[in-house]
Amino acid sequence: MTALWWQTAVIYQLYPRSFQDTNGDGIGDLKGIERRLDYLTSLGVDAMWISPIYPSPMVDFGYDVADYCGIDSRFGTLADFDKMLAQAHARGLKVLLDFVPNHTSDQHPWFAESRSSRDNPKRDWYLWRDPAPDGGPPNNWISDFGGSAWKWDAPTGQYYYHAFLKEQADLNWRNPSVQAAMYDIMRFWFDRGVDGFRIDVLWHMVKAADFPDNPPNFDYRPAMGEMNRVLQLHSTDQPEVHGIAADMRAIADRYGADGQGERVLIGEIYLPVDRLMHYYGQERAGVHLPFNFQLIDAPWEARSLAKLIADYEAALPAGGWPNWVLGNHDRPRVATKRGQAQARVAAMLLLTLRGTPTLYYGDELGLSDVAIPAAQVQDPRELREPGLALGRDPVRTPMPWDGSENAGFTKAKPWLPLNADWPTRNVARMAEEPHSILTLYRRLLAMRRTHASLSIGDFALLDTECDLLAYERRHGAERLIVALNLGTQSQRLKLPDWASNCRPLLSTLAAAAPAGDGALLLRADEGVILSPE
Ligand code: NOJ
Ligand code: CA
Repeated sequence: MTALWWQTAVIYQLYPRSFQDTNGDGIGDLKGIERRLDYLTSLGVDAMWISPIYPSPMVDFGYDVADYCGIDSRFGTLADFDKMLAQAHARGLKVLLDFVPNHTSDQHPWFAESRSSRDNPKRDWYLWRDPAPDGGPPNNWISDFGGSAWKWDAPTGQYYYHAFLKEQADLNWRNPSVQAAMYDIMRFWFDRGVDGFRIDVLWHMVKAADFPDNPPNFDYRPAMGEMNRVLQLHSTDQPEVHGIAADMRAIADRYGADGQGERVLIGEIYLPVDRLMHYYGQERAGVHLPFNFQLIDAPWEARSLAKLIADYEAALPAGGWPNWVLGNHDRPRVATKRGQAQARVAAMLLLTLRGTPTLYYGDELGLSDVAIPAAQVQDPRELREPGLALGRDPVRTPMPWDGSENAGFTKAKPWLPLNADWPTRNVARMAEEPHSILTLYRRLLAMRRTHASLSIGDFALLDTECDLLAYERRHGAERLIVALNLGTQSQRLKLPDWASNCRPLLSTLAAAAPAGDGALLLRADEGVILSPE
């Protein structure tokens, strides 16, 4: 196969508020991203996805957009963006923006018009409904952040729908004017040179036209958060969303021929695999990469991971390119979920599975979730449903760069506290340590570059027992074995005949034991990449 850049690439998600502050306000900014571009290239990633940087009241930290074609002054200016983009491109780094099409801020001028009167031309750009006969909300839909998803607007006597905060009003994507306006925004950024978008909550974009009640979820427990009281049957994943994804893809594809390379679309979709696969498209192509989040929550156990990987591979449509994720700005960090020892094994898994990996900033340092004292909580998710461990501040803390004040992130008070381990867990220090997780990430990323089998090769699981997960990656004459010990006991892997004389190319631990007698002994928490002699 001839691989496209986004198929061989490793994507790095950075949360701009927490990456690098340059003007001393405790909040990361675009100049900070520019300052750290050499770090990204030295790490060995190919593309970055930047969480939203548009003008925003920041009620949901940028996922409440008030102007899709600008830059929030906290992050800088459009000129800063252009400069950062040019500097990234000069280093061969692609830049993906976060597109938030499902909802706007309630401060967006479109919403101000829409709510101004029932006969405003933009009234139908959002989802307005009359009250139920008892005067209550039009149906039982619940916001993902808890509470009714409907907000009463007294001056016009109707409710509007918000899948998230009441400050994030859902657009009516059945309205062709909304579609046209949003497609223009994609073109605005493509024309500026961005290489693609991560599309926020793609599966939410279209709702059932008649707004029926969602069915109750009989498995609901309060610890899950109120959104899970009902199943989001009618409020998400409607068939019409695929036409929209295909329109977006057609726009991206038109730019692919301009010499800059294909523009890529990555859809944020939390759905079971069978429904996720529809987002690759059917008659018309959908998004290039519907995010595959399964590794984040999967039981960390070899047999079930093997099944998960095999089922996902088997479910992919013809031509559908896989992708894998260990964490993001909404979910617990991998080092917290799996522990430091297995975070290294997880790194090897992420970077040796078939498909495009996305790496969350700080995970390359083994950064863990930071407990945020109640008085410092910022995330509206935590503020609305406190104490359920649903808040996202713990995974959005500043990047620790070095041993200087505030880990080199800012000269002011950081907007969220640093992890207390920053004096030892920081880029400058770990870059010098031959066995740090950062050094392991660098070596894994370098190995992916030099061994095409790891990025685009065929994938086949090997028969293993106990807590061992092993697979072969093969491309042309190159055949490699990846063996991962997910347990805390050493384990023996019987090697296939063709690989009986394998030598380790890389271990997650110091100096891997050589294979012998057609077998490999993996230590506790060890992952190894093997090559035949
Ligand atoms: C998904 C984003 O990842 C999350 O951070 C945000 O709160 C919601 N969408 C609403 O935009
Ligand atoms: Ca700043």
